[in-house]
Amino acid sequence: MEDRIAIIGGGNLGTAIARGLAASGKMSPDKITITRRSIHLLDGLKKEGFNIEPDNTLAVRSARVVLVAVRPRQLDAVLEEISPALVEGKHVLISTVSNASIAAIRHGLGKKIPVLRAMPNIAVSVGESMTCLCGDESAGQEARGAATKIFAPLGETLFITEEQMTPATALCACGIAFFLRAIRAAAQGGVEVGFHAEDAIQLAAQTARGAATLLLEGNAHPEMQIDKVTTPMGVTISGLNEMEHHGFSSSMIRGIITSAEKAAKLYREQGNSNGEEH
Ligand SMILES: NC(=O)c1ccc[n+]([C@@H]2O[C@H](COP(=O)([O-])OP(=O)(O)OC[C@H]3O[C@@H](n4cnc5c(N)ncnc54)[C@H](OP(=O)(O)O)[C@@H]3O)[C@@H](O)[C@H]2O)c1
Repeated sequence: MEDRIAIIGGGNLGTAIARGLAASGKMSPDKITITRRSIHLLDGLKKEGFNIEPDNTLAVRSARVVLVAVRPRQLDAVLEEISPALVEGKHVLISTVSNASIAAIRHGLGKKIPVLRAMPNIAVSVGESMTCLCGDESAGQEARGAATKIFAPLGETLFITEEQMTPATALCACGIAFFLRAIRAAAQGGVEVGFHAEDAIQLAAQTARGAATLLLEGNAHPEMQIDKVTTPMGVTISGLNEMEHHGFSSSMIRGIITSAEKAAKLYREQGNSNGEEH
């Protein structure tokens, strides 16, 4: 039997996960309950067959897997509210909240519920997220399996250490914005060399997909593929080197480091002690 899921916090990510799961065909919308305080904003999902519930505790009681997707500042109140409804031996809690450690969540719950963290990105809605997962000793095989069952249909999953979750935020969750900006920049170049904007976006996005697929399906290093398209004194190498002279690789690296450092700072300010050493 499918595990029923309660998504506490039907915002950008919570609703994208719900829609992604339904679109994957691995879970029907009637097995998913979504909550938020401004409940009328979920009317669209209700029409799509999801269960919409203003009461977090009722949503938790209806489910086995509880996915918490609220903002960090909203987390403590939510944990306090749902704790009485969580049953040891029944529920598994998965948090997507970037700044909250498993220890802090467990402390907020005051119960022995298996707790895992998930760091997906917004491409869950199209089944192409890179989702990093972690759990402590409370999360056994069954709980890890429940988390994988939710996120595997939404893209790729990888279990990492909790210390790696903060850098994973920069590389994967923020990373989607970095790659979108790279595609937009390529399209802007495309317009300048003669394409209409919508054609330029399509050409750039599909070219980016091709590059990613070469790496993911060919299991190759980027530089090996680049060597294949850069003929001596050729067109590609001249463009590539011009980009590097202007800091292409350097700005991507520095952007990821800056995001990771900011995420680590916020994590520390939230009162967490691990996850900052990277
Ligand atoms: N967006 C991403 O790509 C992404 C990726 C990885 C991780 N995350 C993390 O996931 C979390 C959610 O991100 P988001 O972008 O989806 O934020 P968001 O759009 O602001 O969604 C948060 C939702 O939580 C709801 N909420 C707040 N208090 C609540 C309560 N007491 N009970 C039920 N619902 C409540 C809010 O709706 P109401 O105000 O109507 O209650 C809102 O819809 C954040 O912690 C973020 O760091 C996000």
